[in-house]
Amino acid sequence: MSAVPPQLQRLAHRIGNAAGLAPDALASEVKAALHDATAEAGWLPPERRRADHQRYARHLLYGDPDGRFSILSLVWDHGQESPIHGHHTWCAVGVYDGVLTEIQFREDAAGRAPVEISSERRVAGSLSFDPPLTSIHRFANRSGALAISLHVYGVAADRVASGVNRIFA
Ligand SMILES: [Fe+2]
Repeated sequence: MSAVPPQLQRLAHRIGNAAGLAPDALASEVKAALHDATAEAGWLPPERRRADHQRYARHLLYGDPDGRFSILSLVWDHGQESPIHGHHTWCAVGVYDGVLTEIQFREDAAGRAPVEISSERRVAGSLSFDPPLTSIHRFANRSGALAISLHVYGVAADRVASGVNRIFA
């Protein structure tokens, strides 16, 4: 793997400084850091922008040594989408390249099948922050071209696979 890009070092450093803040301050600091990271194109190394033709690719960019957060790049080939899911942890997303669609859901009255409530096009530079156990959503690439997003989750790197998503479908 190539050397850690300074843009990623800055992003990790700023989120590390914000990790102990109250939720509102954490949200604005993480979004500000993602804003700067997504405003600058081209720094993501080639091996971290590689698509997987079977499903959307998840590449670990940084794991906080104290286990407070992890940063990933997700690479979406045309037509790929995530499952419908919520998060057990806080989660921030910045679109780095291309255009994604984010579809929001709510649980039905029985708390089972999620019901679609909105759909939003998210272009490069768009940002979001979800506190734990708030939104239920899916990201999809319906753009016809590759798309890449940066995701920050409030868990250690070794818990990203099992400790973040609450899957509905
Ligand atoms: Fe998510």
